[in-house]
Amino acid sequence: MSALATVTLLPVALESAHSSSSGGVLVPGQTPWHPEYPLLETIQGLSMLIGAHQAVGWDALEVPAWWMYQIVVAEDSGRPQVVGDVGFHGPPAADDLVVEVGYDVVPAMRGRGIATAACTALVNLAWRDGARAVRAEAEISNEASRRVLAGVGFAEQPDGSFLIELPS
Ligand SMILES: CC(C)(COP(=O)(O)OP(=O)(O)OC[C@H]1O[C@@H](n2cnc3c(N)ncnc32)[C@H](O)[C@@H]1OP(=O)(O)O)[C@@H](O)C(=O)NCCC(=O)NCCS
Repeated sequence: MSALATVTLLPVALESAHSSSSGGVLVPGQTPWHPEYPLLETIQGLSMLIGAHQAVGWDALEVPAWWMYQIVVAEDSGRPQVVGDVGFHGPPAADDLVVEVGYDVVPAMRGRGIATAACTALVNLAWRDGARAVRAEAEISNEASRRVLAGVGFAEQPDGSFLIELPS
């Protein structure tokens, strides 16, 4: 396994959820974005996430648990920048406490252990906020994503999804 990058997770600004009643538009914050950010997956993921929170009555007054986070790394110069994001697909159902995650990193910054480090941090947030297990999907053809999940400790399930359970 490659060495894990040092990453910080920055919650997507609440203004991003306010920017469009139908789905959210990413609003830049104080941390600069990598020129390739945001990716299409970022926009689509945020829209789905906001819809999932609205479906359970979120009032959008504060950043909720089970949110999306921008992945911040320091360049060689030491200047932090947003290079991707990692987040939940929505709150877990109350009866199973299983939450689903997704992630993406801009092409120029891939292969440095960034997604593995960020997903590890997100899984720890899931344990902190009461999840029983974390689930993820990765196509057979998406070797990079499958290796991320293996690196974090997810196990492939009979249905092809990946799961990691709260350590006892
Ligand atoms: C999947 C993705 C997030 C990985 O990001 P990343 O920061 O490059 O991942 P890491 O550097 O942590 O690499 C994790 C593992 O994947 C391997 N890997 C990276 N790119 C790879 C590639 N193109 N093919 C095969 N393996 C690859 C790394 O070698 C590493 O393996 P190791 O832990 O065994 O050494 C990134 O490729 C991406 O954004 N893809 C598009 C969006 C996407 O597919 N998201 C996931 C949806 S489920």
